[in-house]
Parts: sequence; C-alpha cells; structure tokens
Amino acid sequence: MAAIRDTAPGRRTGPQGLPRLLAGLDPSGAMMSLAEHERVHGQLPRLPARELIETVQRSGLRGRGGADFPTARKLRSVAERRRRAILVVNGSETEPASAKDRLLLGRLPHLVLDGAVLAASAIGAAEVIIKVGETALAMLKALESAISVRADEGVTIHLAAGPEGYVSGEETAVIHYLNGGAPVPTFVPPRPFERGYRGRPTLVQNPETLAQIALVARYGDRWYRELGTEPNPGSALVTISGAVKAPGVYELAFGTSFKDLLAAAGGSTEPLQALLVGGYFGTWVESSRGLMLSLAREDLSSVGCSLGSGVLIALGESSCGLHESARIVSYLADQSAGQCGPCLYGLRAIADALSALADGIARDVELDRVRRWTTEIRGRGACHHPDGAARLVDSALAVFAEEIDWHRRSRCTAPPAGLPVGNGSLRARGTRRATR
Ligand SMILES: Cc1cc2nc3c(=O)[nH]c(=O)nc-3n(C[C@H](O)[C@H](O)[C@H](O)COP(=O)(O)O)c2cc1C
Ligand code: SF4
Repeated sequence: MAAIRDTAPGRRTGPQGLPRLLAGLDPSGAMMSLAEHERVHGQLPRLPARELIETVQRSGLRGRGGADFPTARKLRSVAERRRRAILVVNGSETEPASAKDRLLLGRLPHLVLDGAVLAASAIGAAEVIIKVGETALAMLKALESAISVRADEGVTIHLAAGPEGYVSGEETAVIHYLNGGAPVPTFVPPRPFERGYRGRPTLVQNPETLAQIALVARYGDRWYRELGTEPNPGSALVTISGAVKAPGVYELAFGTSFKDLLAAAGGSTEPLQALLVGGYFGTWVESSRGLMLSLAREDLSSVGCSLGSGVLIALGESSCGLHESARIVSYLADQSAGQCGPCLYGLRAIADALSALADGIARDVELDRVRRWTTEIRGRGACHHPDGAARLVDSALAVFAEEIDWHRRSRCTAPPAGLPVGNGSLRARGTRRATR
C-alpha cells in the first residue's frame, strides 16, 4: 500500500486505492482486534468539533443508510442545539439484501466505534447507543468485546437489540423503540435531530457513514476525494447478490461501472435479464441498460434509480422477474407497520394483484388497478415504505411488461431466485428490549 500526501501536518497518510474501509479485513471472518485496527489505521485522532464537521463537509460524505443525506449538515444540525445531544448508531440493517453493516459492526467494529466517538464529540454527546437487530448474535458479541477493550474516551457506549422488521430500521422507528414504544415509524416533525431519544437532540447515523468519518478524520478530505468523481467522491460498500459467482460485500469507488461491479463479484453465472438497484425499495433496470450505468448519483437518477443502502441484485435469465417482484412486494406488504391505511391495505392489494399477474390469472383491469394503486399510495404513509414499494412495482411493470402477456399464455416454471424475503411480519412479532 503506497502512502499519499495529506491535507494537514501531523495527520497520518492514508491507503491509496482500495480497500479503504475494508483494509486489513481478515478473510477467515474473524473480528479485527483493537491492536490490529491501530496497526492498520493508527490511533483515533482527536479533532475539535468544528474542524471535524468542516473536514466532513469538504469531503462531500453523504449518509449510507439509504437517504443519501449530506453528513456534515446532519452533524451541524445536532451540534447547534447544544443540549444533551446523543448519537444513535443505526445498525438495524433491515434491508434483507444488504450485509455491509453487519460486516462492519461484526468484523471491523473499531472503525465504526472510532467514527461514533468522533461524531459524538462533534455534537457534544457523552452517550452513544448502537441499535442492532436481535438475531445478529455474533455481531452483538463482537461489539460487546470491542467496546470492553477500549480505553475511556469520554463517551459511554450502550448496545440495544431490537426486532428486525423492514421498517424498524427507519430512524423514527429506531427512536420510538429506544423510547420504549413499538419499533414503528412516527409522524414527523419532530425529527430525531429536534426531539429524539428521551426528547433529546439525536443524531442517527448509519455504521458505514461513521466508518467513513473515522477515515476522513484520520486522512483528511483531500485523501477522501482521491477516489470517486467530483460530485460522487470516495468509496462505498455494495452488497452484490443474485446471479453472480461470488456474492458478497465489496468496496468500490464511486464512478465504477456496473460491469466492473459485477466483475468484482466474480461475474454473472448466466446471461442476465435485469438488475435490481438499491434493494427492495429500489428499481429494476433491464440488463443491457443497467450494464451501462455507473455508481454515480446522476447516472442512476437518470433511469429513476438510487443506490439506497448499496444493494445490487443480478437477475439471471432463468429466473422470473414477475414472480420475484411479487414475492418482494408480498414481503413488503407483510412488513407494513399497519398504522397508515394506504400502506396497510394498498400494499397487500398490490402484492396480490402482482402475484395474479405472475401466475397468469390477472386480467387487464387488474393491471390497470395496480398502476393506479401505486400512484395512490405514494406519499400517503408516515414513512417512505409505500413509496419504496411503489417504485419497485412501477419498475417491475415496465421492465417485465412483455412477461405479463407471456404468463397469460404459458406456464412459468422458473425456479425462485433465492432472494431473501424472510423474517416475518413486524406486526406479528414481539418487541424485546435489551439495553446495556
Ligand atoms: C423503511 C425504512 C427502513 C430503513 N432501515 C434502515 C436501516 O436498517 N439502517 C439504516 O442505517 N438506515 C435505515 N433507514 C434510513 C434511516 O431512516 C436514516 O435515514 C439513516 O439511518 C440515517 O443514517 P445516514 O445519514 O448515516 O444514512 C431506513 C429508512 C426507511 C424508510
Ligand atoms: S407508511 Fe406503512 S410502514 Fe410507514 S408508518 Fe405507515 S403503516 Fe407503518
């Protein structure tokens, strides 16, 4: 690994090229110890709050939990409130096709903890809560042991494990759960930065965002921008799955072509018919079009996509896009928190109609209904759950349009592509709180 010139005197030189976040990751799956972490990245630097926020702002870092919000703006909005602020690390990772946060928290916890300590001090917080899913036991163990070996850093770190339904990772759901309620989204305002955990100004941040802060603080914003493009600086963790030879989490520079993304995952196992970009709130793109895209906001938005929390699923020609979409939407309908009518009833009706289309038993009137319903449910929930599902359905109807007719005439024998749609319904699950 070659060293590069840095932005500030006394600052460590950073890794050149990739990997950055994943530097030193043990391929055996073991968690990186604190000693090894410090060998790779050096000790945690202490930056005055203002300097840290300005460095993050110059880096152009944006949140990696799905909303793509500028991180410095969030830090500043909480820091300015100056009263008993708190940081919540949103390690819920409720997107079934994403594995990056589990990898960071379970195998590189010190990088996330460094970022959490830095962000906490930037907003004047003495407490951090790391909220994770309750079944990720290995990750919880790794976090517990990582927290226990760190010296006193002036910040108390708590762990909270909670239910794992899709919407329980939405930030107001996380706060509601930590405040003793059900893990379901609440209406905004107030937003967490205004009144969050126990009424305090709360910064909610994704683990990858914090890990990136840990690197930006060490190596500087100019180093951060050495990778990527001017409007899309740095690197990102992308979970690549589906019809690829080596599914997994990969760190890639922004600007990387989707062809190279798939090549990083070993290439496809069969000719592809489509890509699902951005996870289950994402967008299907026909494969020849998708392979022309790159990991860049403008490029993706030109075809109605966003990277979401960094998920790319390749759909092979042997699979059925209609059936896969019906399964995903049925899962999303099950995941509705049941608080908003259009989400609760609309998503189930859409999922059923989509299944009927996939089974070849729906008439044109049902297709028209699905189109109308996806328009009607948009913006009608307390959270973006209906909007995300509607985006997926609209893209499925466009990309798999020819399939709809074919399914009426022929029997579909495509095997399931194995996309994860487990975990059951949030409404049917109990809520267990485990804060330490
Ligand atoms: C339905 C839904 C589920 C979400 N699940 C997660 C999640 O599991 N993890 C996460 O970090 N963000 C999730 N988010 C986004 C969070 O609300 C929030 O934007 C994010 O945690 C902020 O962190 P960031 O600024 O570092 O991205 C979800 C959003 C929605 C609408
Ligand atoms: S939109 Fe759906 S998931 Fe979101 S709060 Fe309302 S019912 Fe719950």
